[in-house]
Amino acid sequence: MPASAALENSGMTERTRASKTDGNGVVRIAAVGDLHVEEGAQTSYRELFGEVSRAADILVLAGDLTNLGKPREAELLAEDLRACSVPVVGVLGNHDYESGFVEEVSATLRQAGMHLLDGQVTELMDVGFVGVKGFVGGFGPRMLGSFGEPAIKAMVAESVSEAMRLENAMRQVRTKRTLVILHYAPIPETVAGEPPEIFPFLGSSRLAETIDRFKVSAVVHGHAHRGVYEGRTPGGAKVYNVAMHIAKPTGRPYALLEI
Ligand SMILES: [Fe+2]
Ligand SMILES: [Fe+2]
Repeated sequence: MPASAALENSGMTERTRASKTDGNGVVRIAAVGDLHVEEGAQTSYRELFGEVSRAADILVLAGDLTNLGKPREAELLAEDLRACSVPVVGVLGNHDYESGFVEEVSATLRQAGMHLLDGQVTELMDVGFVGVKGFVGGFGPRMLGSFGEPAIKAMVAESVSEAMRLENAMRQVRTKRTLVILHYAPIPETVAGEPPEIFPFLGSSRLAETIDRFKVSAVVHGHAHRGVYEGRTPGGAKVYNVAMHIAKPTGRPYALLEI
């Protein structure tokens, strides 16, 4: 079955055209992760955000918005976001934590109008957007267990905590349609292509276990720059790796989903 047919059967269709069609209640979501905005870089996302504003109703950003989590990087992204005329919702990634300025980075992005989620839900156009960064830990029966040194237990506790924050946010959803936004991957399928040695650092099945306790329209994540676009949780929820480096049906850095 073609991917688009499978999506239609699940109540969601993937969009590959670049124009809006209104009036049927469908919400068009452009999703991209891992912009890694850098100080002094020549790259501007203004043009891309302008294009997204014409193609979609909402822009979703799946973390690693800045390269080193520097306040100036967040300011540069905030300036580029002025070119985006649709609502922007998303999460931070591990890179956004690197320099210890996560509060400043978050404040700058929120002042620019972004709905920055960290264990909350926000409703836009009758779609519930649930966002949490997630964490490492690995997948399936090979997940890192809470055993041994306190440092290992702290790492697993952080992974469990992110899954619990996702669960708490999911319980607050009141909409029929839900998009889960993560930075870390919830399944191994969409990180395939990365070196197997680093799979445990690319995400955690604990996120998928939580997702599968609810009904969601789709899940997007980033972080695995060399992964693949599409997969499913064990419970059947559609998962999309929207890191900008990933080849997508749009042929553009962003994915277009219809929910
Ligand atoms: Fe990244
Ligand atoms: Fe990342």
